[in-house]
Amino acid sequence: MYNLLKGKKGIIFGALDENSIAWKVAERACEEGAEFVLTNSPSAIRLGNIEALAEKTGASLIPADATSIDDLTHLIEKATQILGGKIDFVLHSIGMSVNVRKKRPYTDPNYDFTAKGADVSAVSFHKLMNVLYHKKAMNQWGSIVALSYMAAQRVFPDYNDMADNKAYLESIARSFGYFFGRDYKVRVNTISQSPTPTRAGQGVKGFDGFIAYSDKMSPLGNATALECADYTISLFSDLTKKVTLQNLFHDGGFSNMGVSTAVMEKFTEE
Ligand SMILES: NC(=O)c1ccc[n+]([C@@H]2O[C@H](COP(=O)([O-])OP(=O)(O)OC[C@H]3O[C@@H](n4cnc5c(N)ncnc54)[C@H](O)[C@@H]3O)[C@@H](O)[C@H]2O)c1
Repeated sequence: MYNLLKGKKGIIFGALDENSIAWKVAERACEEGAEFVLTNSPSAIRLGNIEALAEKTGASLIPADATSIDDLTHLIEKATQILGGKIDFVLHSIGMSVNVRKKRPYTDPNYDFTAKGADVSAVSFHKLMNVLYHKKAMNQWGSIVALSYMAAQRVFPDYNDMADNKAYLESIARSFGYFFGRDYKVRVNTISQSPTPTRAGQGVKGFDGFIAYSDKMSPLGNATALECADYTISLFSDLTKKVTLQNLFHDGGFSNMGVSTAVMEKFTEE
């Protein structure tokens, strides 16, 4: 590999199982020479197999509910202590909609579920950056990345209130990113990733059709979780120091397509 993260220290949120995008980022970060702490909610740690990842990558595992300022404060204090200094990179790879889980349609949500989903999927990113900012926990030229989806800009009916959560998340990245850039020379970006077969992805109704359509529409095909990890590593590396406040599409070209010949052929079949 390229030693792109040699000497860098990080925190990775959201590895649940081998399919998780955060899992692949952790494996790639390890290959590139980084040292990091893994974190997830206490229930996800019980349900998933993140302990195996911690062992494989030599990472410490610190439970934290990303909606709790107390948990985040404890996590960041512990992580800087374990890593022996400030943080160079942070991945927020967290998403959850209670309305999707409970099969509530977009037009008739339970608003307590809506609030919970927004807290987990978007406000948690603000809370995380709040704690990092006030604790001055990031090194200069550090990099913070969250994962998003194009439903923040375009209509994907079955993505439900996650579309609104992603729009909120991307806005928080820009707004907080300004202050982080101005005060600490830290960059903040979102990566807008192709549909990917993970626990969160497969929770979306009609996911199989959705992922096949997107693959046929994209000139390069859908981006995999591993390819997303590679792109994330580039954003954590020193090769992208002046990239900030961006929502970066990592989707094989899907976001700029109108129609493809492969999709046209489907509609002109006799
Ligand atoms: N899978 C896709 O199709 C796709 C596409 C674009 C973007 N994304 C985004 O990528 C990110 C990672 O999702 P994934 O696809 O790897 O699925 P995943 O299910 O493997 O990961 C989601 C993670 O969020 C964690 N999480 C949920 N509530 C939490 C809380 N309160 N505190 C801390 N962690 C919590 C879960 O434990 C899990 O590890 C999410 O933001 C998701 O929206 C996914």
